Amino acid sequence: MFKKFSHGTIERNVILLAVLTLITVSIGGLAQIVPLFTVETTIERVQGIRPYTPLELMGRNIYVREGCYACHSQMIRPFRDEHERYGHYSLAAESMYDRPFQWGSKRTGPDLARVGGRYSDDWHAAHFRDPRALVPGSVMPPYGFLDRPLRGIHNIEAHLRTQAGLGVPYTAEMIANARADLLAQARPEAEGNGFEERYPNARRAVFDGNAGTVTEMDAIIAYMQMLGTLVDFRDVTPEQLRQQ
Ligand code: HEC
Repeated sequence: MFKKFSHGTIERNVILLAVLTLITVSIGGLAQIVPLFTVETTIERVQGIRPYTPLELMGRNIYVREGCYACHSQMIRPFRDEHERYGHYSLAAESMYDRPFQWGSKRTGPDLARVGGRYSDDWHAAHFRDPRALVPGSVMPPYGFLDRPLRGIHNIEAHLRTQAGLGVPYTAEMIANARADLLAQARPEAEGNGFEERYPNARRAVFDGNAGTVTEMDAIIAYMQMLGTLVDFRDVTPEQLRQQ
């Protein structure tokens, strides 16, 4: 009876082989996945991480729409050369509100995970309009067309609500004020009405250099300038970073 179920039998019967392979692989898969459901969170919480402001979120959408991830990664690996070029390696928590995440897998251009604050807003605007004017020989395409008005502002509340449904901790207050917060960030002269309290560490500026219309350029620069800036890595140990 045992003889009947030998390897020879299994290998000669394609269906039996497929079924048994499936069962074996499923057990392996379950052993890996099921324990994750029992731990409260698989991502360690880190001090300073906050959801994107509405303007940054719009900028992030433009980043995805334009396919910037095809040339840029957003994940600094824990190797010495990356550390010296880009800064502290990326923490899982730094992309915990990224849906979808933008780690990327190709670096035609540099990693952008910590590009925030590295250049001025004006540098970014000039670079997007004509990369080769600032970096001779750059193969990055020009994105001057982003100087057009930002579209979809009227949908921003629904957008935040959707993100909240996916687990991003946008409060009812943040959702209700989404449109005002978007405009407040791009118009530093306007009354903030609680923007600073809702989004600590978010900078308000005329990102594209042109006061008036809020443009796609404003949104993408606001997004670039916050990348990697939420966690303060100065003089902290990994233990202190953890938020108990
Ligand atoms: C065809 C590939 C390509 C695409 C697409 C591309 N880039 Fe680049 N990018 C580069 C290259 C190459 C560089 C380095 C040379 C330079 O600074 O222009 C660069 C540089 C940059 C820099 C400066 C980074 C630094 O640390 O110096 C930023 C910021 C940037 N890109 C943002 C973007 C954004 C946002 C998009 C999408 C709207 C984008 N790029 C699309 C290739 C690309």
